[in-house]
Amino acid sequence: MEWIKLGSPIIKAEPGHYQPFTWPAGTFHALPEIKDVGDEGILSLLDRRRTSRTFGALSECQLGQLLWRCARTQAIAESDYGFDLELRPTPSAGALHPIHILLQRPGAPNWLRYDSRRHGLVEVAESAGAFAGLKEQCDEVLPTEQATRLLLVAEPGKTYAKYHHGESLIWRDAGALLAVMAMIAEALDCSFCPLGITGEPWAGRLAHAGVLTGVGIAVVGGPSSQR
Ligand SMILES: Cc1cc2nc3c(=O)[nH]c(=O)nc-3n(C[C@H](O)[C@H](O)[C@H](O)COP(=O)(O)O)c2cc1C
Repeated sequence: MEWIKLGSPIIKAEPGHYQPFTWPAGTFHALPEIKDVGDEGILSLLDRRRTSRTFGALSECQLGQLLWRCARTQAIAESDYGFDLELRPTPSAGALHPIHILLQRPGAPNWLRYDSRRHGLVEVAESAGAFAGLKEQCDEVLPTEQATRLLLVAEPGKTYAKYHHGESLIWRDAGALLAVMAMIAEALDCSFCPLGITGEPWAGRLAHAGVLTGVGIAVVGGPSSQR
């Protein structure tokens, strides 16, 4: 099945103008007042979460925590699709988890793949050549020196094994993963910023046409003093 290419978003040179939709007036029902929960747990974490665009060095320990908390395989289950279903901390349509996390440490030429079952990193063979130019594209969007780049690479065939028209599920899986990563990065006191670019055409070069495709990039680093 052919992946529907949406293109890579770029900011318009001239800002467009749009008048937002006006909802018809209706009766307003106020909700109960929210009490302050103090400085503990996910509720207060979400209150203080912010995108950060300055990055300190990310230790291996922080990187491992981020990946473990967001993306490790917690359980597997047999399926009729040719591969096992998985449970991970993030939700995924059909428990198919079609998204791989690839990453590049600052200054390193090669990219690594997170192995969610073994909780470790595997070198992606020949990635330095295949991904030439991706770092530059990331830097055009957000220049960074110390940040670790995270590339979300979807394997659409996993989702297509269960669903017709599964593309939107994969994009929503990518959004779910990005959101959980942003929250865990905040909990780890790390700087985190999603990028609008998709990682295409680089991710697609890693396998035969249509097997892999980029569905997002984020950069993460240790806390910066300018935060
Ligand atoms: C899908 C997505 C793409 C984004 N792309 C960029 C980007 O290319 N560059 C950037 O600086 N921030 C990017 N951001 C971060 C947003 O600008 C940020 O979330 C927004 O300004 C709201 O700020 P907050 O995250 O601190 O609440 C992106 C966020 C999302 C969810």
